[in-house]
This record gives sequence, C-alpha cells and structure tokens, in this order.
Amino acid sequence: MYKSKITGVGHYVPENVVTNNDLAQHIETSDEWITERTGIKERRWVKEGDSNTTSAMGLKASKMAIENAGISKDDIDFIVFATLSPDYYFPGPGVLLQRDLGIKEVGALDVRNQCSGFVYAISVADQFIKTGMYKNILVVGAELHSPGLDKTTRGRGVSIIFGDGAGAVILQRSDDESGILSTHLHSEGQHAEELCLIGPATNRWVDKIMEANDPTDISYYPYMNGNFVFKHAVTRFAEVIVEALQQNKVRPEDIDMLIPHQANLRISQFIQRKMGLSDDQVYNNIMRYGNTTAASIPIALSEALQEGKIKKGDLVCMAAFGSGFTWASALMRW
Ligand code: UT7
Repeated sequence: MYKSKITGVGHYVPENVVTNNDLAQHIETSDEWITERTGIKERRWVKEGDSNTTSAMGLKASKMAIENAGISKDDIDFIVFATLSPDYYFPGPGVLLQRDLGIKEVGALDVRNQCSGFVYAISVADQFIKTGMYKNILVVGAELHSPGLDKTTRGRGVSIIFGDGAGAVILQRSDDESGILSTHLHSEGQHAEELCLIGPATNRWVDKIMEANDPTDISYYPYMNGNFVFKHAVTRFAEVIVEALQQNKVRPEDIDMLIPHQANLRISQFIQRKMGLSDDQVYNNIMRYGNTTAASIPIALSEALQEGKIKKGDLVCMAAFGSGFTWASALMRW
C-alpha cells in the first residue's frame, strides 16, 4: 500500500477587509462583542461585482499550491473540491476548476461536508493514493459566504462569523516516512438542522417560494443554533483528535502543530486547554479571516508553513467540526 503526503500548499483571500467596526455601521453589534465571543477582528468579503467566485478563488489557491509543490498542472490526475458555497447549484466547482486550470480530462469530485469538508476531502484523496489509483491529487477548500449572508441585525449571530477565501494542497504519493498517518471521519445527521441553509432545495421548489413571496422567509440564509453547536463542537473536536492520537500511539505532547478548523477562537482555546497544549502547538488565524468553513484549514496550513511554524518531521494534526454535524481529523508526519 502507498502513502500520501502534502507536497504543496497555497491560499487566496479577497483583498477587501471588513472589520468588526465596519459591521457595526449597519448591524447592532460591536467590536467588543465579536472579539469577546469569537476572537474575530476582521474578515475578507468580496465586493459586489467582484470576479472572485468560489471556483475562481479555488483556482488562485490551486496555482500557488501547484507552484509550491514544484509540479506542472498537467501532473494532476484528480481533483477533490470541498465547499458549501458552490458557484452553481450544479455542476459543482470541481469541473469548473478543471476547465479553468486548462488541464486534461481528469476526474473532479465535489465534497459537501461544510466545515469538515477539507479533512473529508484529504481523506478521500488519501485513499485514492493509497490504492495506487492516482499520484498527484489537487485538494481544494474554497468558500464565498459574503453574498449569501443576512447582513442585518436579524442575522448577526451568523453573519459576523463567516469570511471568504480559499486554500489548496497537492497530495502526492510519498516515497519516504512522511505523510498522512490516519484520517477519521464522523457524522451525526440527527442535528442537521442546527446549522444549515434550507432552501431553495428539491423539497422546496423555487416556483412555490416565488409564489409565496414571503419577506419573513429567512430560509435562504444560513441558520445556526450557536450555543448548541458550540457545545457539540468542543466535545467532538477533542474526541476526534484523541482518536487520531490513540490510533497512532502518540500523546498530545507529541503534536508539533494542531491546525483546527477556524470556527471560533474560543473553541480552539477550549480544545487547547482540554488537551493540555501550549500556544505554539496550536495555529489560529481566525482573528484575520473569520470562519471560512472548508477553506479555513488549508488557509491556516499555508500561513503556518509560510511563517516557518511547521518543519520536516513535525507531527501535524488537522481537525474540524461543523454542519451535519460532521467532524474529522487527519494526523500527518510532515
Ligand atoms: O464552523 C462551524 C461550527 N460553528 C461553530 O462552532 C460556532 C459555534 N457557536 C458560536 O461560536 C457562538 O455560539 C456564537 C459566536 C455564534 C454566538 O455566541 P454566544 O455566546 O453563543 O451568543 P448567543 O447566541 O447566546 O447570544 C447571546 C446574546 C443574545 O442576546 P440576548 O438574547 O442575551 O439578549 C444575542 O441576541 O448576544 C446577542 N447577539 C449579538 N450581540 C451583538 C448575537 N449575535 C450578536 C452580535 N452582536 N453579532
């Protein structure tokens, strides 16, 4: 059986910075409230008319990852694209990326696992490499949240959290000891409606919605039962990290870098305390980007590498929790 490893990483965030004070201009909120509850100071939101679609941001991150890996785009033999905010209802963004990269007709798979999407995507790609089916897989997480958020006071519990951006990695067949050690995936659909965006959907036909023309219908906006999600997040994050450690017979102190999905700085800090990790064992950049869902881990990984915080031989853990609920982890030897 082969092994896979990340050999190139890239990310892209839109230029437009939106601070908490900017939001407080048109939402009843404050920098104090947002900072205290989430740790977020600013996020990137595309400007109206911007050409940065989900797949376009994914393309920019992908080009950086390809260059960083030192391969040609023509070496890519499969694409896995994770997002909850695709350009179109269908087809998914994987094929758009294949087209816009201008590469041969390789397979393109879309992953719909929200905040856990990137770790799920890595796990899928890892299996393809392990079996020998593919050698160079482009794995992308990209999100364009801002156009779909309720930016009024009504939506403040959700809209202040999310940001736009993209991250990508090249997962390659490994010829040494480094690479992915294990991945762990979970779901609990019982809580699907606690963090969701309901309509329009196949059980809510567009003609019926248009006919109702109901201004109180907020089902087009993401909904989150914040407290409930928070409580589940802290439990599941810790569980799935411990699962990865136990499987590989290592301890929390062996982790060189934990890259948690950037859901809320308070969640990351809670996990850090629970696992007894030091500040330099956990990477956070939610302060600058907010929660970018499937993009948050590859953006954080890319920045951690740029800052020299991950070195060859390090034990790196990625972990995520989110809508579904779904949660997942991946442990790697860098
Ligand atoms: O990435 C996927 C997973 N997502 C998560 O893990 C997120 C989990 N949840 C959270 O991060 C937190 O629940 C939030 C940051 C979303 C909210 O924080 P909270 O401490 O749970 O606040 P809350 O929803 O309990 O609201 C407390 C109060 C409410 O007012 P009352 O009812 O006490 O008068 C809200 O109306 O804060 C109010 N509030 C706000 N106030 C100012 C809610 N949003 C805001 C806001 N600014 N943006």
